[in-house]
Amino acid sequence: MKARISPLRKPVSAQGIRVPGDKSISHRALMFAALAEGESRIAGLAPGGDVRSTARCLAQLGVRILRGEEGMGPDDAVVFGQGLRGLREPPGHLDCGNSGTTLRLLTGILAGAGLEATLTGDASLSGRPMERVARPLRALGATVETAPGGKPPVVVRRGHPLRAGALASEVASAQVKSAVLLAGLFAEGETSFTEPARSRDHTERMLRMMGFDVIQRGNTVAVRGPAKLSGIALDVPGDLSSAAFLLAAALVAPKGSQLGLVHVGVNPTRTGFLDALAMFGARIQLELPRTHAAEPSARMTVSAQKLRGAALDGDLVLRAIDEVPILAVLGALAEGPTVIRGAGELRVKESDRLAQMALGLRAMGARVEELPDGLSIEGRGGRLDGGAQIDSARDHRIALAFSVAALAAQEPTIISGAEWADVSFPGFFGLLRRLGAEVEILP
Ligand code: S3P
Repeated sequence: MKARISPLRKPVSAQGIRVPGDKSISHRALMFAALAEGESRIAGLAPGGDVRSTARCLAQLGVRILRGEEGMGPDDAVVFGQGLRGLREPPGHLDCGNSGTTLRLLTGILAGAGLEATLTGDASLSGRPMERVARPLRALGATVETAPGGKPPVVVRRGHPLRAGALASEVASAQVKSAVLLAGLFAEGETSFTEPARSRDHTERMLRMMGFDVIQRGNTVAVRGPAKLSGIALDVPGDLSSAAFLLAAALVAPKGSQLGLVHVGVNPTRTGFLDALAMFGARIQLELPRTHAAEPSARMTVSAQKLRGAALDGDLVLRAIDEVPILAVLGALAEGPTVIRGAGELRVKESDRLAQMALGLRAMGARVEELPDGLSIEGRGGRLDGGAQIDSARDHRIALAFSVAALAAQEPTIISGAEWADVSFPGFFGLLRRLGAEVEILP
C-alpha cells in the first residue's frame, strides 16, 4: 500500500490522545502470565501484529487466552496461567511473524521448559541474528540450533533440565537478557546476566509484580529458580516508542500546534527520547501520577517549537533505541548539526535502520552521513523537500518516521509499504487525518 502524505499547513490541536499499549510490556504480560499460576487480567495490550504473534504462539503451546468477550475492551485479555511446567509442545512451527521479541523470549521459555519446537518468522525476522540468544542458552545446557548465519529458524530440542549459571553479554539487549532470565526461572539456583549497560527492565519489573524476587547488582541481574509466579491484573501503559511519532509531529507542525497524550509509559529505561528532546531544546510538559506503579505512566503536552541540533550518544541512545529513526527526522528539521552515535544495533532491527534513514532523508533533501554506529545530519532549520518517494523497507518504524517527516515537507511525499506501520501503530494514518493531515491511500 502506498500513502501520499501532504504537509501540514494549519496548526493541529488535540487533547487526551491514547497511543497503543506498550509492545515490550504486552509481550511479557502474555508470556509471563502463561507461566504464572492462576488468571491474569491484562488491559490495553498493544494492538499490532507483533503481540498477536505472541498470543498465537502461546495458544499453540496450550495456553488459553480469552479476548473479545463481552464486557472486555478490544485490547484486553484474560490469560489462564499454566504454571511453570504446564506448557505443551506445539503441534507445528511457531510462526513469530515480524516480532524479534516473540522469537527470542519464547526461545528462552522453551529452552527452560525443555520443550521441542521450531520458531520461524517472516522475511525480515528470518534475516536477524539469533546466536545472541542461542549461545547463552547453550551455556546453560540447552540444545538450540540456528540456521546458517545464526538466523531463524531456531530449533529448541527436548532436553535435560537446565543448569543455573552466570552469563555475560557484549551487547546490551533486553531480548537476550529476558531470554536468559526466562530460562533461569526453570533452573535450580541462581542464573545471572551481565550486560555492558542497562537495557530496558520490563522483565525484571513484571517478575516482581508477579511476586518473584529479582536481584539487581549494577548491570547484573539475577533470578533464583525454580520460580513460582502469581497471576496479575495489569493496565498496560501506552507505548512511548509510538507516542514519540506524535510528539515529534506536534513539534514540527505549524506554529500554534499542541497535542496532549495520556497514559504514556515513562519507565526510566525507556525515556531516552524525552531526554533527547530536551537536548534539542524542546519543552514538554509531563504530569506524573502521584501513586506508585510498577510501570509508571504520564500525561504529556507538547507544542510546536524550533529545535536545535544535538549530539546523542551512550546510555541516552540505548534508552531511545527504537526512537532513533524519528530522532533522525527531528535532527534533519532542526537548526545545526545532529550526530547520533552508539546506535550500531539499528543495523540488525526490522531493517538496517541507519541505512534506511540516510537513504530516505537524503531523498527529502537532507545532508546525511552514515556512520558505522550512527548518523551525522546537517539540520535544515526548516522544511524538507517534497516529492520524495520513500520505501518503508517493510519496517514499521521507518514507515512511521517518514510519515512524520512528510508532514514537515514542502510538497506531498509518497511512502510505499506504508501498511507496515500497523506492526506497532494500527490506526496511525486515521489519527493523522483526525489531526487535519491529508493522507491519501493509493492503490
Ligand atoms: C525489546 C528490546 C529491544 C527493542 C525492541 C524490543 C524488548 O531490542 O529494540 O523493539 O521488548 O525486549 P534488543 O533487545 O534487540 O535491543
